[in-house]
Amino acid sequence: MKALKQETIQTKIEKISAVSALVLREIPAALETETSFLSFRERLSLANITHPLKQREWVAARMAVKESLDALGLVYPGFYKDRHGKSHSMNGIGYVSLSHTERFAAAIYHQEMPVGIDIDHVREKTLRLGPKFLSDKELEFLPKDPLHYTLAWSAKETIFKCQGRKGISLREHILLDPFPVDAPFIYGQIHHTDHSNHFYKVKPYVQNDLVMTYTVW
Ligand SMILES: CC(C)(COP(=O)(O)OP(=O)(O)OC[C@H]1O[C@@H](n2cnc3c(N)ncnc32)[C@H](O)[C@@H]1OP(=O)(O)O)[C@@H](O)C(=O)NCCC(=O)NCCS
Repeated sequence: MKALKQETIQTKIEKISAVSALVLREIPAALETETSFLSFRERLSLANITHPLKQREWVAARMAVKESLDALGLVYPGFYKDRHGKSHSMNGIGYVSLSHTERFAAAIYHQEMPVGIDIDHVREKTLRLGPKFLSDKELEFLPKDPLHYTLAWSAKETIFKCQGRKGISLREHILLDPFPVDAPFIYGQIHHTDHSNHFYKVKPYVQNDLVMTYTVW
């Protein structure tokens, strides 16, 4: 598995192709409160978030989106959410996905294809939660190891976000092929949908206790 280069992740900007980029950034303790790049609608959404820590995460994730767009030389168009919670660009161009934890925020933008991204910290409790997000077959083939389980969880969340609709269960519908803990890619399918024949190819990154996965449709 390709590890992130620095031990301390500050901002990782990766141009995946000429039309796609991703950003993983640590959320600084004192986050700059520069939010003027946000659209009016986004500032309204931000004002509705009451918890200061959640506000920080929300802003940091939008900064990561902006930095992805900057890497491609594109202007931040503002984003709105559909009824499923998935973000769409206000100018109708491109696809975005984002993820945040207390310490990190990540975003991916692609001009042409749907994308998904997820970050998670490796936690022992993921083992206990296994039966909630893993099928019986996955529970059989996955070694009982927190990193392996977190990779599986994150890959499924990434696939979920790429497809975007509520009502898709990680355990019942999103099924992964067996994969080693250092797999360059994790493959999965969403069953019982119009696109069941589509294989999602999920790229994992691991650094310290942080797992990031992303996929481009
Ligand atoms: C929506 C979901 C993917 C969010 O994941 P999370 O780990 O809670 O949070 P993350 O920080 O990684 O991602 C949050 C972002 O996901 C995005 N998101 C929310 N719903 C989404 C959807 N339907 N499609 C795509 N992206 C979505 C949003 O941009 C959100 O960030 P924002 O609130 O700042 O806009 C998750 O809550 C979920 O519903 N998972 C699948 C359903 C499931 O089976 N869950 C239980 C299994 S035990």
